[in-house]
Amino acid sequence: MLIRIPAVLTPEEVAHCRAVLDAAAWTDGRVTAGAQSALTKNNLQAPEDSAPARELGELILGRLGRNETFVSAGLPLRVFPPLFNRYDEGMSFGAHVDNTIRFSGPVRFRTDLSATLFLSDPGEYDGGELVIMDTYGEQAVKLPAGDMVLYPASSVHKVQPVTRGSRWASFFWAQSMVADDGRRALLYQMDRAIQDLGRQVGLGDPSVVSLTGAYHNLLRMWGQT
Ligand code: NI
Repeated sequence: MLIRIPAVLTPEEVAHCRAVLDAAAWTDGRVTAGAQSALTKNNLQAPEDSAPARELGELILGRLGRNETFVSAGLPLRVFPPLFNRYDEGMSFGAHVDNTIRFSGPVRFRTDLSATLFLSDPGEYDGGELVIMDTYGEQAVKLPAGDMVLYPASSVHKVQPVTRGSRWASFFWAQSMVADDGRRALLYQMDRAIQDLGRQVGLGDPSVVSLTGAYHNLLRMWGQT
């Protein structure tokens, strides 16, 4: 399931991120790549433990915690501290899969969801699409600054070469309470339908209450905490 989450950051917050990152000490992006993805990775990253990455990471985590779509679609259990990357002209990242298990300090967690939060507007660069291969074929994603795409970390994906300008983004992973993408998609569909129905007939309607109970019991059956 690919989900677009619009306006995770306001234009002012995007501008703040860009200003802070402008002063960051960018390094070779291969520091967080596994052996296979390091072969095709050619970009720059703000160091994970640097002050800019920590400050902006906190800002993004704060916004995500209040974002209903992220919470409903991702059912996040743990969110990896956001990282920041940059593709200048000529840079790209070939087809790869993200590591399943990652460490954040001493904490080990499973990557169920991958996220890219765009910090450059599409007009600022050519190329640079995030291409996600799924059962529907290839999906090329290039969103306005401040918007985010959430997709299964199990997907093969790549970033097309940037042929003009520079593409800045935040990227991170999350462990979901529900590991399976198909189950998460069903729960998201059900949650949205319950919200819509609740608006039409009232959240206290017995059918809405019953469906809400079914949703929570599915989450109880499938969820890990
Ligand atoms: Ni990746």
